[in-house]
Amino acid sequence: MAGAATTSSQVASGPLADLVGAGIAVPLVQGGELAYVNLDYAASAPSLTRVAERVAAVLPWYSSVHRGSGYLSLVSTSLYESARATIHRFVGARPDDVVVFTRNTTDSLNLLARSVPDGGEVVFLDIEHHADLLPWQRRQHRCVRVAATLGETLERLADALDDRPAALVAVTGASNVTGEVVPVREIVELAHARGARVALDAAQLAPHRRIDLARLGADYVAFSGHKCYAPYGTGVLAGRRDWLDEAPAYLAGGGAVERVTVEETIWTSAPQRHEGGTPNLLGAVALAEASLVLAPLFGGEIEAHERALRERLVAGLEDLGGVRELRIWGDSSDAIGVVAFDVVGHDAGLVAAYLACEHGIGVRDGRFCAHPLLERLNAGKGALRASFGLGSSLHDVDRLLGALAEYRRGRSRQTYTARDGVFTPDGDRRPVPFPQVDLGSPTLAPPCKG
Ligand code: ALA
Repeated sequence: MAGAATTSSQVASGPLADLVGAGIAVPLVQGGELAYVNLDYAASAPSLTRVAERVAAVLPWYSSVHRGSGYLSLVSTSLYESARATIHRFVGARPDDVVVFTRNTTDSLNLLARSVPDGGEVVFLDIEHHADLLPWQRRQHRCVRVAATLGETLERLADALDDRPAALVAVTGASNVTGEVVPVREIVELAHARGARVALDAAQLAPHRRIDLARLGADYVAFSGHKCYAPYGTGVLAGRRDWLDEAPAYLAGGGAVERVTVEETIWTSAPQRHEGGTPNLLGAVALAEASLVLAPLFGGEIEAHERALRERLVAGLEDLGGVRELRIWGDSSDAIGVVAFDVVGHDAGLVAAYLACEHGIGVRDGRFCAHPLLERLNAGKGALRASFGLGSSLHDVDRLLGALAEYRRGRSRQTYTARDGVFTPDGDRRPVPFPQVDLGSPTLAPPCKG
């Protein structure tokens, strides 16, 4: 449980924190039910119990933020700004840095893309997920192709910046596909030496490793609440004030202004400049609470927990045979709890459907919103991804390995029909928890597969 010391014999044997929905049972297509194995943390992590409790405690006091003079409004405004201060500490921001609350990482990086001064080029690697790729495509940009090793990749990046200066290097902290951790500090050093700032896309890194902007020297960091156990619709962009103060207001609306006439608007400074409209108080409070749970677990417990799970999974996949783990670099030495693989010769969508329908295991399949990387890894048709976090255990990994072994032995008892690349079990009679849920709905087809 959270905060408890972990001995080596306990590593990864149980959860590191209490999560809402832990142990929930899901129905199987052949009948019966099993405790759900959630191996899809990299897309959306479950809510921490402490986060849900905090939100419930704040709700009776919920009122307008920065808009009212009533007592509840003052309480809400203060909670919102206190959440901002908590996140400032969580990311190790410098005193002058600003923390802008956004909707998610995608939103944060779109905001940053609009804040890079005109004419400034953005450089990124071809391993990025779409949130750290598409916003830059809308402005002056350059993509550097990664090499077979991290060492060569850093050389290529340095060469690219020597060829032509850039305003910003945008880089993920850890791949959302392979989990490999990127050496951000080295990238900061080489970028700063060549006059470029660095934006760290920490969508994947933030739930797994301590972020320390000041120590890393990175200029910006972006991440999402829904991957950090706080699924209440908030993300963060934190970093240098100057570009954010100069940039056009991200959302034109109330709260972002100093003064308005019908002819013109004087915009206020960051962070409020980019938080037009009523802010998401519950999202900010939730993310701040999650950060307080996560912070003491970094630097030991989370890393050991994930290492144990990852080693067991990677070794187990190798033992299965006919399974290929996806990796970007031959020399990367650190990785978070994200492992992508394919069952050679089998459609990833079919394997994912089998795991879910017949074994109650949730993984992600497809191209993980990282199409260029999947092409590079010769997995353009899609792959499988198992990702874990605070609630995962070795038992979960063993359930996955056992189910994959059965699949390899041809033990599926079920037939599936593919529609638009999505496999659904024939004759699916699984009960649903809410009358609105339709497991056979065509809306379950892509774009979710992107
Ligand atoms: N980028 C998210 C993922 O990897 C959505 O699943």
